[in-house]
Amino acid sequence: MTTTSTAYTAARTTARLDALVASVREAVGQGLPPDLTAYLVGERLAPHLGAADLLTEEQQEPDPATYRQHLLHAEHDGSFSVVALVWLPGQRTSVHDHVSWCTTGVHTGEERERRYRLVPATREVAAHLVATDDVVNPRGAVCGFAPPGDIHRVWNACADLAISLHVYGADISRIGSSVRRVYDLPADR
Ligand SMILES: [Fe+2]
Repeated sequence: MTTTSTAYTAARTTARLDALVASVREAVGQGLPPDLTAYLVGERLAPHLGAADLLTEEQQEPDPATYRQHLLHAEHDGSFSVVALVWLPGQRTSVHDHVSWCTTGVHTGEERERRYRLVPATREVAAHLVATDDVVNPRGAVCGFAPPGDIHRVWNACADLAISLHVYGADISRIGSSVRRVYDLPADR
């Protein structure tokens, strides 16, 4: 699947999500460089992963057609957003990169990630992707990164539902998605 559906469920929340948002707000407000902000946000996100009272039932609803994005919070000044991505077995993203720093944490299940390097076109070869890393992210795993060099694909390879929390340094309520570019290029795997 190359697209996702978005459900705007920001009006319904939990006390734990409110606490997470307050803690992320404090981290983002420190004004650190993007990669350090992503790291610090990961420290704030980790203690909440797997907690039964983090998300409402609606915020954990999948979509049979594609992985589903629930917008959980968009900060009023546009400085960050929090979303939950809900994946049925086999659902996957396109190969893409991001408009901003991003911190991810696996809340339920297990996610797989393949990272790529873009090889630009030359006179001899067309532009293509080379896989650089295959990562398994189990429940509780946290990952923070900042562009450039953040091309990847993510999918749910386990037999059950997977849910991950993503914090982006962008206003997802306005732009809809954190994806900067989808890479429809040949890849070695
Ligand atoms: Fe991504």
